[in-house]
Amino acid sequence: MLLKNLHRITGIIVSAFVITHLFNHSMAWFGITTHQRILDTLRIVYRQPVIEICLISCFLFQAFSGVKLIFRLRKKEEKSTFEKIQIYSGVVLGLFILQHIIATIGQRFYFKFDTNFYFASRVVLQNPIKWYFIPYYALGIMSFATHVANVHQHKMISRIGERQAKIHFWGIIGVFAIITTIILYVFMGGRFEIIIPSEYLVY
Ligand code: HEM
Ligand code: HEM
Repeated sequence: MLLKNLHRITGIIVSAFVITHLFNHSMAWFGITTHQRILDTLRIVYRQPVIEICLISCFLFQAFSGVKLIFRLRKKEEKSTFEKIQIYSGVVLGLFILQHIIATIGQRFYFKFDTNFYFASRVVLQNPIKWYFIPYYALGIMSFATHVANVHQHKMISRIGERQAKIHFWGIIGVFAIITTIILYVFMGGRFEIIIPSEYLVY
């Protein structure tokens, strides 16, 4: 119970970051300068060393506690639909989080470049790596959406009934599907031409 409560509390912290993070990426619709301005503003907060260490620790704890919760549920013979969805979406989300943190922070220190719009755009623009990174980003966002929408649905059933809760679930999934489409469309060069600076062409 303690582990589940901690998973929920750190889940709220990381969700606040993910929502602002995705808002930042969606705003690239209005141009790379707009994206960079919002990124610079957000970095004033989350790039403070103490805050960044806490944030990354929360993400890693989320993955670690999630795996422990899955092992606990494995012992249960009859798993509910809620539990099954949390397990499947959690596994995908956990794999995404681990790779994404290693990639963004690792490359920031190793290649010493700014992990900005071009850093993310390049991998969904270039052949053949884009065939890995397009589903990678889409699954990252949609597994997060499914995990959170499922919790929301589960908590709302007793208040608003099963039918309404299901509408909320699909509503949340729909909103995140639109956000995913917007981000990938812009980052893949659908809205304006993107010329990747040569320093990002490291692999
Ligand atoms: C952004 C990351 C994540 C967020 C925001 C998040 C959030 C949550 C929340 C709020 C709950 C409901 C807790 C409750 O019922 O009080 C939950 C449950 C759960 N999460 Fe996550 N989680 C994340 C990542 C993960 C990962 C990476 C895994 C697996 C590796 C995972 C596995 C689970 C499982 C199995 C449950 C169900 C626990 C149970 O009902 O016994 N989560 N999560
Ligand atoms: C299409 C979707 C996404 C793109 C293009 C993207 C891109 C990026 C970029 C460029 C950075 C570096 C930020 C910086 O230098 O300040 C970053 C950092 C990060 N992203 Fe994402 N991201 C996406 C989705 C997600 C999702 C869904 C999650 C979590 C579930 C996530 C978690 C993180 C974390 C934890 C960091 C590290 C923050 C730090 O620098 O301390 N991202 N991402």
